[in-house]
Amino acid sequence: TSEPLVLGIETSCDETGIGIVRGRRLLSNTIASSMDEHARYGGVVPEVAARAHLEALQPSIEQALAEAQVGLDDLDAIAVTSGPGLAGALMVGIGAAKGLAVSLDKPLYAVNHLVGHIAADILASDAEESAPLEYPTIALLVSGGHTSLLHVRDLTTDVELLGETVDDAAGEAFDKVARLLGLPYPGGPQIDKAAVSGDPKAIRFPRGLSKASDMAKHRYDFSFSGLKTAVARWVERAQLNGDEVPLADVAASFREAVVDILVTKALAACEDRGVPRLLLGGGVIANKRLREVALERAAAAGVAVRIPPLSLCTDNGAMIAGLAAELISSGRQPSTLAFGADSTLPV
Ligand code: KG4
Ligand code: ZN
Repeated sequence: TSEPLVLGIETSCDETGIGIVRGRRLLSNTIASSMDEHARYGGVVPEVAARAHLEALQPSIEQALAEAQVGLDDLDAIAVTSGPGLAGALMVGIGAAKGLAVSLDKPLYAVNHLVGHIAADILASDAEESAPLEYPTIALLVSGGHTSLLHVRDLTTDVELLGETVDDAAGEAFDKVARLLGLPYPGGPQIDKAAVSGDPKAIRFPRGLSKASDMAKHRYDFSFSGLKTAVARWVERAQLNGDEVPLADVAASFREAVVDILVTKALAACEDRGVPRLLLGGGVIANKRLREVALERAAAAGVAVRIPPLSLCTDNGAMIAGLAAELISSGRQPSTLAFGADSTLPV
C-alpha cells in the first residue's frame, strides 16, 4: 500500500503520546500522563513534565510499536509536535524524534499541535471507516493548555487562527475554580460531578469578552480569568456572611458560563463565515454539558458538529502522526533538522 506508516511523538504538555498510523488508519495510540505528579501543585509544572517525558518516551515507543505490530525499520516517517506548548517538554520529544530520524535515516516532520487536534478527527480504527474532513469547518479546541477557534479551509495548507484565550485556557479555569472550591486536580471532571445536582441559573457569572464593545475587538477571543475571580469573590462573600457555600450551584453556574462563552463564540464564527460545520477537540470536550449545549445550539443554527472519540480529543501522538501522514500524501517535503521547540508556534 502507498499509505505512509508514521510514528508520531507528542510531548507539548503533560501527556507523553506515541501514535502510529498508516494513512488515516489508527494502529496504536499510547498515552503516559504525568498528571498525578502535578496534582499537588494544582497545575502542570513544566520541569516535572519534561522529566516525565524523558522517562516515558522509550517504553511508550516500544509499546506503540508492539501494539501496531510494526518495527522501527517499517516506518516511512517520524512526526513530532514542535509547538505550541511548554518549551522544555517539547524539547524532549523533539530530541527523541530527531534521534530516531537520523539513526533510522527516515524523513522527519515537525507539526503544529493545534492542527494535530484537528487531524484527530480523520483517524479511524480498524472497525470503522475514516470520514474525511469536510471543508471549510470551524474548529474549537479547548484543553488545559489552549482555547482556540480556527477556520479550516484545508488541513494541510489553509488553517486560520480566528482567536484564542487572552489569559487562562478553559481547562485551566476549571482547574483553578475547582481548587478554590476545595476540589482536587484536575478540576474539570470534579466540577462536572459537583454540578450534576446544581442549578446552572442559580448565579449569573460574567461571560468574558462578550459585551458588545468587547465583541467588536475580541469577537473570537476568550477570557476566563475574570470569571474565575468572580467565582472567588462570590465564595468569599458567602463565607464572610457565614453562609454555607452551595457547591453544586456554584459549580453548575460556573460551568454554564464557560460553556455559554465557548459555544456562543464558536457558533458566531460559523455564522460570520458561513460555515455550517463545527469540529470540537481538546480534553475539555469531556465535559458533558459542553457537548450537550454545543449539539443543541448547533442543531438550531443548522451547524453539523463533529467530535472525535475522547481518546483522540485529549493530547495524543496519533493525531500528530495522522497530520504528518496527510502532509506526506499532499506532497509536503520533510522538515530539516534545524527546527527547535517553539512554544508559541503559529498555525
Ligand atoms: O487535553 P487535555 O487532556 O490536556 C491538557 O491540556 O494537558 O486537557 C486536560 C484539561 C484539564 O484542565 C481538565 O480539567 C480538563 O481538560 N477537563 C475537563 C473535563 N475533563 C477534563 N474540563 C471540564 N469538564 C470535564 N469533564
Ligand atoms: Zn492539546
